[in-house]
Amino acid sequence: MRVFVTGASGHIGSAVIPELLSAGHKVVGLARSDASAAALASAGVEVRRGSLDDLAVLQEAAAAADGVIHLAFKHDVAFTGDYAAAATADLRAVEAIGSALEGSGKPFVNTAGTFSLAHAVRGRASTEEDDGGGPRIASENATIALGKRGVRASVIRLAPTVHSALDHQGFVPSLVAMARRNGFAAYVGDGANRWPALHTLDAARLYRLALEAAPAGSRLHGVADEGVPFREIAEAIGRGLGLRAVSIPAEEAGKYLGFLAAFAQFDNPTSSARTRELLRWQPTHPGLLADLAERHYFEPSPKAP
Ligand SMILES: NC(=O)c1ccc[n+]([C@@H]2O[C@H](COP(=O)([O-])OP(=O)(O)OC[C@H]3O[C@@H](n4cnc5c(N)ncnc54)[C@H](OP(=O)(O)O)[C@@H]3O)[C@@H](O)[C@H]2O)c1
Repeated sequence: MRVFVTGASGHIGSAVIPELLSAGHKVVGLARSDASAAALASAGVEVRRGSLDDLAVLQEAAAAADGVIHLAFKHDVAFTGDYAAAATADLRAVEAIGSALEGSGKPFVNTAGTFSLAHAVRGRASTEEDDGGGPRIASENATIALGKRGVRASVIRLAPTVHSALDHQGFVPSLVAMARRNGFAAYVGDGANRWPALHTLDAARLYRLALEAAPAGSRLHGVADEGVPFREIAEAIGRGLGLRAVSIPAEEAGKYLGFLAAFAQFDNPTSSARTRELLRWQPTHPGLLADLAERHYFEPSPKAP
């Protein structure tokens, strides 16, 4: 398949590209800068220049492809304060890609997050059947609706920690940077709240399988660890840095955990049983705590926040 991939130059994209290429697909990647274009070209990707706001470019590239994987997201806008603007841009991009694919039967794999379920489901692990909420839900729902408009559309709800040595700017590097700055690894209250997690290479395989085989209208869960207690994540980061893990009260979460203050208190256990069965997908790479024990998160990185 000739696959148009947005966000191909990002963390998850950097694993999705070799996964697709080694399965015999061709990749066309969206690049908004010379640096991203050069990185994609050297990875064996045909470059399509443009940004998420260039809706005509997205439409043309989607129409010319046999399938689309959408990974780009304006994290630079989202995490400097305007998450709603980033989510709106994402929705517009999804609508543009969707309109270009309408009636074609081609696959379109979009990206969402399991945190959308953190407030909607309580007291049990959320499943693929559960409805979520939050700023990115419109993009998720628009994608699912494309399933009834002749697009083999699916959404992968990713765990908030997609982790590996390829991850330089996600939540784990942010927590490591905050622990360094604070002099301790913080968790809120008893830290019993759970975060799901997924290794980047397992995520890449899931994207390929969804592209190749997910039925129209599938909500999929990109989750390997169903739920790691946040306290254990803080303890693992503390071990890696030679620092203590320290409980902080909720009122001080903003002071020590910055933009992650609210997320760090989410209890978000998430099942991926249906996804595994549907796509015969089995995560095989290390879980979050094992990956933290491999120490790569504690080496100096030029891209770390
Ligand atoms: N990593 C995680 O743990 C995680 C967890 C849950 C959900 N997700 C979601 O998974 C997706 C991929 O995440 P990631 O970790 O790979 O993100 P990332 O490393 O930040 O990469 C983001 C990608 O989007 C591109 N991009 C950003 N703004 C753009 C714009 N205005 N126009 C065109 N391209 C733009 C970036 O291009 P440049 O290379 O030019 O910057 C980059 O390729 C995102 O939707 C993210 O929210 C990730």
